[in-house]
Amino acid sequence: MRATLWPECPEADHTREMAEILGDPEFNAAFLAHAPDGLPVGFLEASIRLTAEGCRPGRIGYLEGWYVEPEWRGRGLGAALVQAAEAWAVERGCREMASDAEIENAAGRQAHAHLGYQETSRLAHFRKDLRGR
Ligand SMILES: CC(C)(COP(=O)(O)OP(=O)(O)OC[C@H]1O[C@@H](n2cnc3c(N)ncnc32)[C@H](O)[C@@H]1OP(=O)(O)O)[C@@H](O)C(=O)NCCC(=O)NCCS
Repeated sequence: MRATLWPECPEADHTREMAEILGDPEFNAAFLAHAPDGLPVGFLEASIRLTAEGCRPGRIGYLEGWYVEPEWRGRGLGAALVQAAEAWAVERGCREMASDAEIENAAGRQAHAHLGYQETSRLAHFRKDLRGR
């Protein structure tokens, strides 16, 4: 599921990042949603950050990665994953939760909005080729 959400990420990086997350439970958590047969069909990775766009500095819960398999969407699994991450963040002293999504990911942005997340800012990325100057 991670490879589907972040296809540009090499497999070795997935393995390393998952080990780092599981090795630092005070600042990172991973939640899984399961189908009735036990198969994992969704995941959410959350962290505690110290700053986030539009939030007061301090311990802030952050939705790092949020994914539900297409055939399981629209049944509340995504919301349940977010609720679990929010409860985890509250337990760790967070008063705010933050997240991000690509501008073109309209469904992802709407899902955030439905769950009470307000858009705080938009960022454009730029590049310039400096060879041949
Ligand atoms: C975003 C995602 C995790 C939501 O999972 P889900 O299981 O479909 O979510 P839920 O069924 O729990 O819906 C949660 C809320 O979002 C709303 N929502 C979900 N998908 C939506 C869509 N495509 N358009 C509008 N609203 C949507 C639901 O209506 C619900 O709100 P409600 O309770 O007010 O009705 C899933 O669509 C996904 O994996 N998308 C691809 C990855 C992605 O975009 N991740 C998030 C950005 S990084």
